[in-house]
Amino acid sequence: MAHNLQVHSTSADDLNSDPAGLETGKEGSGPAPIPSQGHPLSRTPNWIDALFLLFLAGLAALPPVREPHKQIILAAIALLQIFEARLVRVSPRFGRSYAVILKILLATVLLDHTSEMAINSSYWPIYLLPVVTAATYFGTWATLAWTALTSAAFCSLLIPALQDFTITAEAVGELVTRIVFLFLAAMLINRFSVEIRRRAQASQALAEELAVTNKRLGEVQEEARRSERLAALGQMSAGLAHEIRNPLGVIKGSAEMLTKKLQDSNPLASELAGYISSEVNRLSALVARFLDFARPQALELVPGDVSEVVDRALAAVRAQRPDAKVVVERRYIEGLPVVRMDDRLAEQVFQNLALNAYEAMEPDGGILSVEIAGARRDGADGVEVTLRDSGPGIPPEISEQIFNPFFTTKKTGVGLGLAIVSKIVDEHNGSLRLESEPGRGACFHVYFPAAGISAHASNAPQLHES
Ligand SMILES: Nc1ncnc2c1ncn2[C@@H]1O[C@H](COP(=O)(O)OP(=O)(O)O)[C@@H](O)[C@H]1O
Ligand SMILES: [Mg+2]
Repeated sequence: MAHNLQVHSTSADDLNSDPAGLETGKEGSGPAPIPSQGHPLSRTPNWIDALFLLFLAGLAALPPVREPHKQIILAAIALLQIFEARLVRVSPRFGRSYAVILKILLATVLLDHTSEMAINSSYWPIYLLPVVTAATYFGTWATLAWTALTSAAFCSLLIPALQDFTITAEAVGELVTRIVFLFLAAMLINRFSVEIRRRAQASQALAEELAVTNKRLGEVQEEARRSERLAALGQMSAGLAHEIRNPLGVIKGSAEMLTKKLQDSNPLASELAGYISSEVNRLSALVARFLDFARPQALELVPGDVSEVVDRALAAVRAQRPDAKVVVERRYIEGLPVVRMDDRLAEQVFQNLALNAYEAMEPDGGILSVEIAGARRDGADGVEVTLRDSGPGIPPEISEQIFNPFFTTKKTGVGLGLAIVSKIVDEHNGSLRLESEPGRGACFHVYFPAAGISAHASNAPQLHES
């Protein structure tokens, strides 16, 4: 049985990787890690503590001895029990050892005060207190060591007795029996305690994993909702835009004719007709742009390097806004996986995002930090580009709407930039995630799945598609 216990506890201890580095030995010689919920005793209901104190009070009131020292020692034990959890919290490294040592000392003193000859005291089972405490806190080997120390303290009571008496073989047998009982109790409790600690840690790890999965699930659901909404909205407005285009053509033609006809006879009317025609031009351009967005695109997927595409996009935006006081900080990880993408469309994604960042940081400028790193999503490798600006950020109440076509907060904005980004990323089976706290800038994460070939192979001509 002892062998069984040991094997059990050792393997359990191996599973307890201690984040705080409290574990001092592989075979469980050091203090066992405290589960983050706190000290095991701190979770026991208060009534158990109360019961414990009641038993101590019972000991205090009971014969065989009624003497003040005994009462004081019992009170000290009670106090230690009450403040033990706090002691462990204050000194996570040594608190548990202090608690056990104090209990051994108090138990030894108690025995000394409860019998003429301390070794004969009927209070000897009080040594279970330090033994049980050690068994709940420590691994197997440390528990054995603490129990041995407790036994040594017990045996030390022989020293004064041996000065006046000689010890019989029977008494030695009795003493050894008691010590064996201490070890038995220690091992039994240690076995359960180690198992409980292991389970607590396993369930904590599981809970953490679950929280991560839940978060990811929420994100995926949000993305799916966004895509659905965009698809529905896109279809509807594409139909509408198509219908608007024809009458616009007629209005435009008529306005142009009017301008020409009235040029000499009625200059004012001619000027007004000119306005109609120029505004119609603006509307036509908008409708054309939207139809471009809504039209299903044939992707030309070619394996390529995302960082080149990002650099081209950043250069294009810089060229569009040469006077912007924006500092671009780049952090690209080397050896990124190759991504299959439509270069032109992917460049548009980063152009639109960078342009928004530039616009958000107007007029004072700021920092646009661009990071490119490998990432794993749903078990697949890919590349994640993160664009973080130091602008005003995006308020949570519009963080979903900004991806809708025609949603804009800018005076001259069209509101198609992010809708286009979202659509292109979707078509690449990627994902787009916004992270923004107002006042701390906006941060867009764009993920593209990898092509499944290494960076080296990307130069091999046979892998290119035409
Ligand atoms: N980096 C950013 N910082 C703050 N707000 C942003 C940022 N990017 C986008 N937005 C918000 O999202 C809206 C929609 O952006 P977009 O679709 O590109 O259209 P537009 O730029 O024409 O307004 C913007 O009007 C703005 O309110
Ligand atoms: Mg924009």
